Amino acid sequence: MPETRTAGVTGLGMSVPSRVLTNHDLEQMVETNDAWIRERTGIRERRIAASGESTSSFAFEASLRALNAAGLEPAEVELIIVATATPDMLFPATACLVQHQLGAKRAAAFDLEAGCSSFIYAMAVGAQFISTGCLRNVLVVGADTLSKITDWRDRSTCVLFGDGAGAVVLQPVEPPRGVLSVVLRADGSGADLLKMPAGGSRLPTSEETARSGLHHLVMNGREIFKFAVRAMGEAAAEALRSGGLKQEEVDCFIPHQANVRIIDALAKRLCLPPEKVLINVDRYGNTSSASIPIALYEAVSTGRIKSGSLALLVAFGAGLTWGALALRY
Ligand code: UT7
Repeated sequence: MPETRTAGVTGLGMSVPSRVLTNHDLEQMVETNDAWIRERTGIRERRIAASGESTSSFAFEASLRALNAAGLEPAEVELIIVATATPDMLFPATACLVQHQLGAKRAAAFDLEAGCSSFIYAMAVGAQFISTGCLRNVLVVGADTLSKITDWRDRSTCVLFGDGAGAVVLQPVEPPRGVLSVVLRADGSGADLLKMPAGGSRLPTSEETARSGLHHLVMNGREIFKFAVRAMGEAAAEALRSGGLKQEEVDCFIPHQANVRIIDALAKRLCLPPEKVLINVDRYGNTSSASIPIALYEAVSTGRIKSGSLALLVAFGAGLTWGALALRY
Protein backbone atom coordinates (compact mmCIF):
# COMPACT_ATOMS: atom_id res chain seq x y z
CA MET A 1 0.00 0.00 0.00
CA PRO A 2 1.35 3.48 -0.83
CA GLU A 3 1.83 5.72 2.22
CA THR A 4 -0.79 8.35 3.14
CA ARG A 5 0.25 11.92 2.35
CA THR A 6 -1.21 15.39 2.74
CA ALA A 7 -2.05 17.35 -0.44
CA GLY A 8 -1.26 21.05 -0.48
CA VAL A 9 -1.30 23.97 -2.90
CA THR A 10 2.18 24.66 -4.29
CA GLY A 11 1.37 26.98 -7.21
CA LEU A 12 -1.45 29.26 -8.31
CA GLY A 13 -2.45 31.10 -11.47
CA MET A 14 -5.38 33.01 -12.89
CA SER A 15 -6.57 34.41 -16.19
CA VAL A 16 -9.48 36.67 -17.09
CA PRO A 17 -10.57 38.22 -20.39
CA SER A 18 -9.22 41.69 -21.13
CA ARG A 19 -12.65 43.09 -21.98
CA VAL A 20 -14.29 44.88 -19.02
CA LEU A 21 -18.08 45.25 -18.95
CA THR A 22 -19.17 47.88 -16.41
CA ASN A 23 -22.58 48.43 -14.86
CA HIS A 24 -22.82 51.59 -16.97
CA ASP A 25 -22.24 49.51 -20.11
CA LEU A 26 -25.11 47.24 -19.00
CA GLU A 27 -27.38 50.28 -18.64
CA GLN A 28 -27.11 50.59 -22.43
CA MET A 29 -28.14 46.95 -22.95
CA VAL A 30 -31.04 46.25 -20.53
CA GLU A 31 -33.30 48.24 -18.21
CA THR A 32 -31.01 48.40 -15.19
CA ASN A 33 -28.81 50.86 -13.39
CA ASP A 34 -25.48 50.95 -11.61
CA ALA A 35 -27.06 51.73 -8.20
CA TRP A 36 -29.38 48.68 -8.34
CA ILE A 37 -26.59 46.32 -9.35
CA ARG A 38 -24.18 47.62 -6.69
CA GLU A 39 -26.75 47.61 -3.88
CA ARG A 40 -28.24 44.20 -4.67
CA THR A 41 -25.07 42.37 -5.70
CA GLY A 42 -21.93 44.41 -4.90
CA ILE A 43 -20.78 44.04 -8.52
CA ARG A 44 -19.24 47.02 -10.35
CA GLU A 45 -17.74 45.34 -13.38
CA ARG A 46 -17.00 41.92 -14.83
CA ARG A 47 -14.72 40.44 -17.54
CA ILE A 48 -16.36 39.07 -20.69
CA ALA A 49 -14.74 36.68 -23.19
CA ALA A 50 -14.35 37.75 -26.81
CA SER A 51 -15.99 35.69 -29.55
CA GLY A 52 -12.84 33.66 -30.30
CA GLU A 53 -12.20 32.92 -26.62
CA SER A 54 -13.65 29.98 -24.71
CA THR A 55 -13.34 28.28 -21.34
CA SER A 56 -10.16 26.46 -22.40
CA SER A 57 -8.46 29.76 -23.35
CA PHE A 58 -8.53 30.96 -19.75
CA ALA A 59 -8.06 27.50 -18.25
CA PHE A 60 -4.87 27.08 -20.29
CA GLU A 61 -3.38 30.45 -19.31
CA ALA A 62 -4.23 30.02 -15.63
CA SER A 63 -2.72 26.51 -15.72
CA LEU A 64 0.51 27.67 -17.32
CA ARG A 65 0.91 30.33 -14.62
CA ALA A 66 0.17 27.87 -11.82
CA LEU A 67 2.73 25.39 -13.19
CA ASN A 68 5.36 28.15 -13.47
CA ALA A 69 4.65 29.23 -9.90
CA ALA A 70 5.07 25.64 -8.70
CA GLY A 71 8.23 25.16 -10.80
CA LEU A 72 6.65 22.18 -12.52
CA GLU A 73 7.07 21.16 -16.17
CA PRO A 74 3.89 20.22 -18.08
CA ALA A 75 5.39 16.77 -18.71
CA GLU A 76 5.47 16.16 -14.95
CA VAL A 77 1.70 16.70 -14.50
CA GLU A 78 -0.10 13.40 -13.86
CA LEU A 79 -3.72 14.54 -13.71
CA ILE A 80 -5.67 17.58 -14.93
CA ILE A 81 -9.16 18.22 -13.60
CA VAL A 82 -11.08 21.10 -15.14
CA ALA A 83 -13.99 22.17 -12.97
CA THR A 84 -16.53 23.79 -15.27
CA ALA A 85 -20.19 24.08 -16.18
CA THR A 86 -19.39 25.72 -19.51
CA PRO A 87 -16.98 23.37 -21.28
CA ASP A 88 -15.78 24.28 -24.77
CA MET A 89 -17.96 21.43 -26.07
CA LEU A 90 -20.20 18.80 -24.46
CA PHE A 91 -17.39 16.44 -25.34
CA PRO A 92 -14.46 15.96 -25.50
CA ALA A 93 -13.60 17.25 -22.04
CA THR A 94 -12.09 20.73 -21.82
CA ALA A 95 -9.40 19.15 -19.60
CA CYS A 96 -8.19 17.22 -22.67
CA LEU A 97 -7.93 20.44 -24.68
CA VAL A 98 -5.90 22.01 -21.86
CA GLN A 99 -3.75 18.87 -21.58
CA HIS A 100 -2.90 19.10 -25.29
CA GLN A 101 -2.20 22.85 -25.23
CA LEU A 102 0.09 22.44 -22.23
CA GLY A 103 1.87 19.45 -23.75
CA ALA A 104 1.19 17.51 -20.55
CA LYS A 105 1.88 14.23 -22.26
CA ARG A 106 1.74 12.00 -19.17
CA ALA A 107 -1.45 13.44 -17.71
CA ALA A 108 -4.91 11.94 -17.39
CA ALA A 109 -7.59 14.59 -17.93
CA PHE A 110 -11.27 14.96 -17.19
CA ASP A 111 -13.89 17.61 -16.45
CA LEU A 112 -15.91 17.81 -13.27
CA GLU A 113 -19.28 19.54 -13.16
CA ALA A 114 -20.91 20.52 -9.87
CA GLY A 115 -22.18 24.01 -10.76
CA CYS A 116 -20.36 26.80 -8.96
CA SER A 117 -19.16 24.26 -6.37
CA SER A 118 -17.11 22.46 -9.04
CA PHE A 119 -13.75 23.80 -7.89
CA ILE A 120 -14.20 22.59 -4.29
CA TYR A 121 -15.33 19.19 -5.60
CA ALA A 122 -12.32 19.06 -7.95
CA MET A 123 -9.88 20.05 -5.20
CA ALA A 124 -11.32 17.27 -3.05
CA VAL A 125 -10.90 14.70 -5.85
CA GLY A 126 -7.38 15.85 -6.73
CA ALA A 127 -6.31 15.82 -3.08
CA GLN A 128 -7.53 12.23 -2.75
CA PHE A 129 -5.18 11.03 -5.51
CA ILE A 130 -2.29 12.58 -3.61
CA SER A 131 -3.26 11.49 -0.12
CA THR A 132 -3.63 7.87 -1.22
CA GLY A 133 -0.11 8.01 -2.62
CA CYS A 134 -1.26 7.37 -6.23
CA LEU A 135 -0.07 10.66 -7.73
CA ARG A 136 2.30 13.52 -6.86
CA ASN A 137 1.46 16.29 -9.35
CA VAL A 138 -2.18 17.26 -9.92
CA LEU A 139 -3.46 20.37 -11.70
CA VAL A 140 -6.93 21.56 -10.67
CA VAL A 141 -8.52 24.33 -12.74
CA GLY A 142 -11.76 26.21 -12.13
CA ALA A 143 -12.85 27.81 -15.40
CA ASP A 144 -16.11 29.15 -16.76
CA THR A 145 -17.44 31.47 -19.44
CA LEU A 146 -21.03 31.92 -18.32
CA SER A 147 -21.31 34.91 -20.68
CA LYS A 148 -21.66 32.31 -23.45
CA ILE A 149 -24.91 30.92 -21.99
CA THR A 150 -26.28 34.19 -20.59
CA ASP A 151 -29.49 35.67 -21.97
CA TRP A 152 -28.29 39.22 -22.55
CA ARG A 153 -31.92 40.43 -22.62
CA ASP A 154 -32.65 39.11 -19.10
CA ARG A 155 -31.68 41.80 -16.60
CA SER A 156 -32.23 39.47 -13.64
CA THR A 157 -29.27 37.29 -14.68
CA CYS A 158 -27.09 39.13 -17.21
CA VAL A 159 -25.75 41.61 -14.66
CA LEU A 160 -24.43 38.85 -12.39
CA PHE A 161 -21.85 36.82 -14.25
CA GLY A 162 -18.30 37.16 -15.54
CA ASP A 163 -15.71 34.91 -17.20
CA GLY A 164 -12.30 33.62 -16.15
CA ALA A 165 -10.20 30.84 -14.68
CA GLY A 166 -8.02 30.04 -11.71
CA ALA A 167 -5.69 27.07 -11.32
CA VAL A 168 -3.80 25.37 -8.52
CA VAL A 169 -1.06 22.75 -8.45
CA LEU A 170 -1.58 20.11 -5.75
CA GLN A 171 1.42 18.19 -4.47
CA PRO A 172 2.35 16.30 -1.30
CA VAL A 173 3.29 18.73 1.49
CA GLU A 174 4.53 18.38 5.06
CA PRO A 175 1.97 18.76 7.88
CA PRO A 176 0.62 21.02 9.25
CA ARG A 177 0.24 22.38 5.68
CA GLY A 178 -2.30 21.02 3.21
CA VAL A 179 -5.96 20.15 2.83
CA LEU A 180 -7.20 19.57 6.38
CA SER A 181 -10.85 18.77 5.82
CA VAL A 182 -13.47 18.59 3.08
CA VAL A 183 -17.28 18.65 3.08
CA LEU A 184 -19.22 17.93 -0.13
CA ARG A 185 -23.03 17.85 -0.44
CA ALA A 186 -25.76 17.73 -3.11
CA ASP A 187 -29.54 17.96 -3.30
CA GLY A 188 -30.97 17.30 -6.76
CA SER A 189 -34.49 18.21 -5.62
CA GLY A 190 -33.39 21.80 -6.32
CA ALA A 191 -32.18 21.05 -9.87
CA ASP A 192 -34.76 23.36 -11.46
CA LEU A 193 -33.65 26.40 -9.47
CA LEU A 194 -30.60 27.00 -11.64
CA LYS A 195 -30.13 25.29 -14.99
CA MET A 196 -29.59 25.48 -18.73
CA PRO A 197 -32.64 23.56 -19.99
CA ALA A 198 -31.58 22.61 -23.55
CA GLY A 199 -28.54 21.19 -25.29
CA GLY A 200 -28.37 17.93 -23.36
CA SER A 201 -30.04 14.53 -23.92
CA ARG A 202 -33.33 15.59 -22.33
CA LEU A 203 -33.90 18.50 -24.68
CA PRO A 204 -31.45 18.18 -27.56
CA THR A 205 -30.61 21.26 -29.58
CA SER A 206 -33.24 22.00 -32.23
CA GLU A 207 -34.57 25.01 -34.09
CA GLU A 208 -37.37 25.11 -31.53
CA THR A 209 -35.04 25.12 -28.48
CA ALA A 210 -32.93 27.83 -30.09
CA ARG A 211 -36.02 29.91 -30.91
CA SER A 212 -37.32 29.55 -27.35
CA GLY A 213 -34.00 30.62 -25.83
CA LEU A 214 -33.60 27.37 -23.89
CA HIS A 215 -29.82 27.41 -24.26
CA HIS A 216 -29.53 30.15 -21.69
CA LEU A 217 -29.03 29.94 -17.97
CA VAL A 218 -32.30 30.32 -16.01
CA MET A 219 -32.42 30.91 -12.27
CA ASN A 220 -34.73 31.47 -9.33
CA GLY A 221 -32.53 34.09 -7.68
CA ARG A 222 -34.45 34.49 -4.42
CA GLU A 223 -34.55 30.76 -3.65
CA ILE A 224 -30.88 30.36 -4.53
CA PHE A 225 -30.03 33.25 -2.23
CA LYS A 226 -31.73 31.63 0.79
CA PHE A 227 -30.22 28.24 0.04
CA ALA A 228 -26.73 29.74 -0.38
CA VAL A 229 -26.48 31.32 3.05
CA ARG A 230 -27.83 28.27 4.90
CA ALA A 231 -25.88 25.63 2.93
CA MET A 232 -22.53 27.43 2.94
CA GLY A 233 -22.93 28.24 6.64
CA GLU A 234 -23.50 24.58 7.49
CA ALA A 235 -20.68 23.32 5.25
CA ALA A 236 -18.16 25.84 6.58
CA ALA A 237 -19.00 24.96 10.20
CA GLU A 238 -18.73 21.25 9.44
CA ALA A 239 -15.38 21.63 7.66
CA LEU A 240 -14.00 23.38 10.74
CA ARG A 241 -15.44 20.75 13.08
CA SER A 242 -14.15 17.78 11.11
CA GLY A 243 -10.70 19.37 10.80
CA GLY A 244 -10.58 19.98 14.56
CA LEU A 245 -10.36 23.72 13.85
CA LYS A 246 -11.89 26.73 15.54
CA GLN A 247 -13.54 29.59 13.67
CA GLU A 248 -11.11 32.10 15.24
CA GLU A 249 -8.16 30.19 13.71
CA VAL A 250 -9.34 31.08 10.18
CA ASP A 251 -7.01 33.68 8.63
CA CYS A 252 -8.81 34.09 5.32
CA PHE A 253 -12.39 33.14 4.47
CA ILE A 254 -12.96 32.64 0.74
CA PRO A 255 -16.61 32.14 -0.16
CA HIS A 256 -17.91 31.67 -3.69
CA GLN A 257 -18.20 35.18 -5.12
CA ALA A 258 -21.84 35.41 -6.21
CA ASN A 259 -23.29 38.34 -4.30
CA VAL A 260 -21.82 40.54 -1.58
CA ARG A 261 -25.07 40.32 0.40
CA ILE A 262 -24.78 36.51 0.49
CA ILE A 263 -21.15 36.84 1.62
CA ASP A 264 -21.99 39.38 4.34
CA ALA A 265 -24.87 37.27 5.69
CA LEU A 266 -22.66 34.19 5.70
CA ALA A 267 -19.75 35.91 7.46
CA LYS A 268 -22.16 37.20 10.11
CA ARG A 269 -23.60 33.74 10.61
CA LEU A 270 -20.08 32.35 11.09
CA CYS A 271 -18.99 35.28 13.31
CA LEU A 272 -16.08 36.08 10.98
CA PRO A 273 -14.87 39.71 11.03
CA PRO A 274 -14.91 41.58 7.66
CA GLU A 275 -11.10 41.85 7.52
CA LYS A 276 -10.86 38.05 7.24
CA VAL A 277 -13.38 37.79 4.40
CA LEU A 278 -12.11 37.95 0.83
CA ILE A 279 -14.37 39.85 -1.59
CA ASN A 280 -13.56 40.49 -5.25
CA VAL A 281 -17.05 40.05 -6.74
CA ASP A 282 -17.04 43.83 -7.29
CA ARG A 283 -14.35 43.42 -9.99
CA TYR A 284 -15.21 40.07 -11.57
CA GLY A 285 -18.89 39.34 -10.92
CA ASN A 286 -19.80 35.70 -10.40
CA THR A 287 -17.24 33.66 -12.36
CA SER A 288 -18.77 30.34 -11.25
CA SER A 289 -16.11 27.60 -10.87
CA ALA A 290 -13.36 30.20 -11.28
CA SER A 291 -14.41 32.45 -8.41
CA ILE A 292 -12.68 30.59 -5.57
CA PRO A 293 -9.34 29.89 -7.30
CA ILE A 294 -9.19 33.49 -8.57
CA ALA A 295 -9.87 34.76 -5.04
CA LEU A 296 -7.32 32.32 -3.60
CA TYR A 297 -4.73 33.50 -6.13
CA GLU A 298 -5.37 37.14 -5.23
CA ALA A 299 -5.25 36.41 -1.49
CA VAL A 300 -1.84 34.75 -1.88
CA SER A 301 -0.40 37.32 -4.29
CA THR A 302 -1.43 40.25 -2.07
CA GLY A 303 -0.04 38.58 1.07
CA ARG A 304 -3.41 38.08 2.76
CA ILE A 305 -2.59 34.37 2.77
CA LYS A 306 0.98 33.50 3.75
CA SER A 307 2.72 30.20 4.34
CA GLY A 308 0.97 28.59 7.31
CA SER A 309 -2.25 30.67 6.98
CA LEU A 310 -5.54 28.85 7.40
CA ALA A 311 -7.95 29.45 4.50
CA LEU A 312 -11.55 28.30 4.57
CA LEU A 313 -13.08 27.88 1.10
CA VAL A 314 -16.84 27.46 0.70
CA ALA A 315 -19.12 27.28 -2.32
CA PHE A 316 -22.67 26.61 -3.51
CA GLY A 317 -24.14 26.16 -6.95
CA ALA A 318 -26.41 24.48 -9.45
CA GLY A 319 -27.32 20.90 -8.71
CA LEU A 320 -27.90 21.92 -6.06
CA THR A 321 -24.40 21.40 -4.73
CA TRP A 322 -22.37 22.90 -1.92
CA GLY A 323 -19.17 22.25 -0.03
CA ALA A 324 -16.28 23.58 2.02
CA LEU A 325 -12.56 22.91 2.30
CA ALA A 326 -10.08 23.95 4.98
CA LEU A 327 -6.56 24.54 3.64
CA ARG A 328 -3.38 25.32 5.56
CA TYR A 329 -1.35 27.15 2.87
O1 UT7 B 1 -23.52 30.93 -8.37
C1 UT7 B 1 -24.87 30.89 -8.00
C2 UT7 B 1 -25.63 31.88 -8.86
N1 UT7 B 1 -26.76 32.50 -8.32
C3 UT7 B 1 -26.83 33.39 -7.31
O2 UT7 B 1 -25.95 33.60 -6.54
C4 UT7 B 1 -28.11 34.16 -7.18
C5 UT7 B 1 -28.55 34.43 -5.78
N2 UT7 B 1 -29.54 35.46 -5.79
C6 UT7 B 1 -29.25 36.78 -5.84
O3 UT7 B 1 -28.08 37.15 -5.88
C7 UT7 B 1 -30.37 37.77 -5.86
O4 UT7 B 1 -31.60 37.09 -5.68
C8 UT7 B 1 -30.44 38.61 -7.18
C9 UT7 B 1 -29.25 39.57 -7.24
C10 UT7 B 1 -30.42 37.71 -8.39
C11 UT7 B 1 -31.69 39.45 -7.19
O5 UT7 B 1 -31.75 40.28 -6.05
P1 UT7 B 1 -33.08 40.34 -5.18
O6 UT7 B 1 -32.84 41.31 -4.10
O7 UT7 B 1 -33.43 38.92 -4.80
O8 UT7 B 1 -34.09 40.95 -6.20
P2 UT7 B 1 -35.46 40.35 -6.72
O9 UT7 B 1 -35.22 39.22 -7.67
O10 UT7 B 1 -36.34 40.14 -5.55
O11 UT7 B 1 -36.01 41.57 -7.58
C12 UT7 B 1 -36.34 42.83 -6.97
C13 UT7 B 1 -36.78 43.80 -8.06
C14 UT7 B 1 -37.79 43.20 -9.02
O12 UT7 B 1 -38.71 44.22 -9.38
P3 UT7 B 1 -40.15 44.29 -8.68
O13 UT7 B 1 -40.81 42.95 -8.99
O14 UT7 B 1 -39.88 44.46 -7.21
O15 UT7 B 1 -40.79 45.45 -9.33
C15 UT7 B 1 -36.94 42.86 -10.23
O16 UT7 B 1 -37.70 42.87 -11.43
O17 UT7 B 1 -35.64 44.18 -8.84
C16 UT7 B 1 -35.93 43.99 -10.23
N3 UT7 B 1 -34.72 43.65 -10.92
C17 UT7 B 1 -33.87 44.59 -11.41
N4 UT7 B 1 -33.94 45.93 -11.43
C18 UT7 B 1 -32.90 46.60 -12.00
C19 UT7 B 1 -34.19 42.42 -11.16
N5 UT7 B 1 -33.02 42.55 -11.81
C20 UT7 B 1 -32.80 43.88 -11.97
C21 UT7 B 1 -31.77 44.63 -12.56
N6 UT7 B 1 -31.85 45.98 -12.55
N7 UT7 B 1 -30.68 44.05 -13.12
